[in-house]
Amino acid sequence: MPSDLKILIKHQDISKAVDRLAAEICKDYHGKNPLLIGILKGSFIFMADLVRKINTPLQVDFVRLSSYGSGTESSGKIKVISKLTEPVKDRHVIVVEDIIDTGLTTQYFVEYLKRKKPASVRLCALTEKPSRRKTKTKIDYLGFTVPDKFIVGYGIDWDEKYRYLPDICYIE
Ligand code: IMP
Ligand code: MG
Repeated sequence: MPSDLKILIKHQDISKAVDRLAAEICKDYHGKNPLLIGILKGSFIFMADLVRKINTPLQVDFVRLSSYGSGTESSGKIKVISKLTEPVKDRHVIVVEDIIDTGLTTQYFVEYLKRKKPASVRLCALTEKPSRRKTKTKIDYLGFTVPDKFIVGYGIDWDEKYRYLPDICYIE
């Protein structure tokens, strides 16, 4: 592992959290054929692990969002840059996100989805940084609360680096 990184959450603990979230989703969505929409790229590993633990039929889709503006903080001006391929109307949708920081990205995307008239929309996030939140977005299924540090690994990047790491780490 790169020397400037410290482990925050070990992959065994991530795995236990994924089991817990999958069990909650399975219980709530049994027989509802939910549509899980992952926000790329950060959610790809979480999504892959999560769906294999949800023991009820479901479908998946992905979107790519871009936050335009400069700097590391999201500007709140978000654009959908790769469209959904599955119809959302009348579906029970679960948005799957790697990290909720200010909340602006997810808030924008949930509003975008609601205009497509889904039967319901809920949010599943692997991590959240409550100290930086600027929105009231409710997280229905949450893995971990993390401190105000820049985290990477398990799909999450810093400038496209470190997505491949099995643990969630922070940059010192
Ligand atoms: P928000 O709009 O501020 O909630 O930002 C959400 C997006 O910013 C996430 O989906 C990540 O892509 C990125 N992000 C926020 N915090 C971190 C972090 O600590 N590490 C890596 N990416 C982050
Ligand atoms: Mg993201």
